[in-house]
Amino acid sequence: MVQNQRNPNILFFVLTFLSFLFNLTSSFSPSDNYLLNCGSPFATTVDNRVFLADPDSHSSSSKIFLKDQNPSPDSSAIYHTAIIFTTPSSYRFHIKTKGTHLIRLHFSPFSSPSYNLSSAIFHVSALGFSLLREFSVPNKTHVVKDYIINVDREELVISFTPVCRSSFAFVNAIEVISAPKDLIANVAQWVGSEGVGSYEGLSDQALETVHRINVGGMKVTPFNDTLWRTWIPDENFLFLETYEGKAVSFGGRIKYQIGGATREIAPDNVYSTARVMKEANAAAPTSNITWVFPVSLGYRYLVRMHFCDIVSLAVNQLYFNVYLNGYLAYRDVDLSVLTNQMLAAPYYLDFVVDPVSSGVIHVTIGPSSLSSPSTINLILNGLEIMKISNSMGRFDGGFQQSWRWHLLKVSSGDNLEDGNPPPSGEDLRNSALHCG
Ligand SMILES: *[C@@H]1O[C@H](CO)[C@@H](O)[C@H](O)[C@H]1NC(C)=O
Ligand SMILES: *[C@@H]1O[C@H](CO)[C@@H](O)[C@H](O)[C@H]1NC(C)=O
Ligand SMILES: *[C@@H]1O[C@H](CO)[C@@H](O)[C@H](O)[C@H]1NC(C)=O
Ligand SMILES: *[C@@H]1O[C@H](CO)[C@@H](O)[C@H](O)[C@H]1NC(C)=O
Repeated sequence: MVQNQRNPNILFFVLTFLSFLFNLTSSFSPSDNYLLNCGSPFATTVDNRVFLADPDSHSSSSKIFLKDQNPSPDSSAIYHTAIIFTTPSSYRFHIKTKGTHLIRLHFSPFSSPSYNLSSAIFHVSALGFSLLREFSVPNKTHVVKDYIINVDREELVISFTPVCRSSFAFVNAIEVISAPKDLIANVAQWVGSEGVGSYEGLSDQALETVHRINVGGMKVTPFNDTLWRTWIPDENFLFLETYEGKAVSFGGRIKYQIGGATREIAPDNVYSTARVMKEANAAAPTSNITWVFPVSLGYRYLVRMHFCDIVSLAVNQLYFNVYLNGYLAYRDVDLSVLTNQMLAAPYYLDFVVDPVSSGVIHVTIGPSSLSSPSTINLILNGLEIMKISNSMGRFDGGFQQSWRWHLLKVSSGDNLEDGNPPPSGEDLRNSALHCG
């Protein structure tokens, strides 16, 4: 008898202790984790992360370290220096663990007597993907370009190419980080005028995050995100001709489940806020909530919707439909079923869509026929929209001169898969045609 009473306690203690250990050790630690303070001979710490000194300190005349003489005091220290490339140049990163990686490029132009960084125009490529074409950054803006790419070799080369001889390239900081294995699944639901189908092959494509939104909440900075991402509020994307719902927040614990969405899919701060809808006076739920996101035409997009039922008082009370560009994407979502009857447990849905012809993606949540007007009937906690590289491995296609010569090169048998070689003199002469 005594034994029987004590054993469960010991077991309980062991389980609690194990889960305590699990919580301690479960914080994500990437095997590749390069943070580079480009153009600086010194390391600098931002949000508890150390950006290392630029190793290229014996710079040749085509690589120039530049320091902002008048940095704005509230800007991050990584933006106070930059490296300048006056000829095609690259950074090489040794990759310990092949697989999906996050690549972030930071650009924040400043002016020095010899270089005005906002007048730079350049290309950036990696692993055969053209990440940026004829890229320039307006005066006084910070731009972070954020990519998810499968690195299938032991070296990652990121190449910077000025568009012409009179131009130059620059970058302020680079991050190359191993992603958690399950960050991007290979398959998503395709949604279009023909209905819903299966879209395969996502994990071999390069993705560029173009919108990352904390719905109903505040900006989430890299400090509060397990993968050091930035999430911005949703207000500016709400389609105000319909109802905008109500922003809510939750002070309880988010219940991550084994096999479910993790903190690396989205952090607590994203799941703890949401926009919801409850119609007090209606006999039946009648309104949608819609967000509209500008995107470039000519690409497909992965739309990842993050959900966590932080509002229902009991399971199986919240039902809704998801529409993308007005097409039904998922009917009668019941988060309780998707999270094994657990409230406050995170879940996400991945869809692939084409933008509508005006260059936007509409994301709508609407009442289901199972919804009841007396309970919350709509919810969305977070949203990411990622551009999928096109069949030529490009993100910034355009119909400019330089794009056409590349098209010619590909059709004449060049293999983009084997890496974009730095442009030859001939390429530079060609693109010099529109350098002015
Ligand atoms: C931005 O442009 C203004 C003039 O338009 C100039 O005074 C200022 O120095 C520029 N800042 C940078 C960082 O280039
Ligand atoms: C730098 O170049 C940009 C774009 O050409 C221009 O708007 C800006 O005024 C320039 N800044 C300075 C300080 O010359
Ligand atoms: C991190 O999140 C907490 C909780 O939401 C917030 O109070 C804090 O200001 C955030 N810190 C930063 C640096 O964003
Ligand atoms: C919500 O939007 C969808 C797609 O545009 C539409 O079919 C549906 O009728 C709308 N529902 C309500 C209640 O407005």
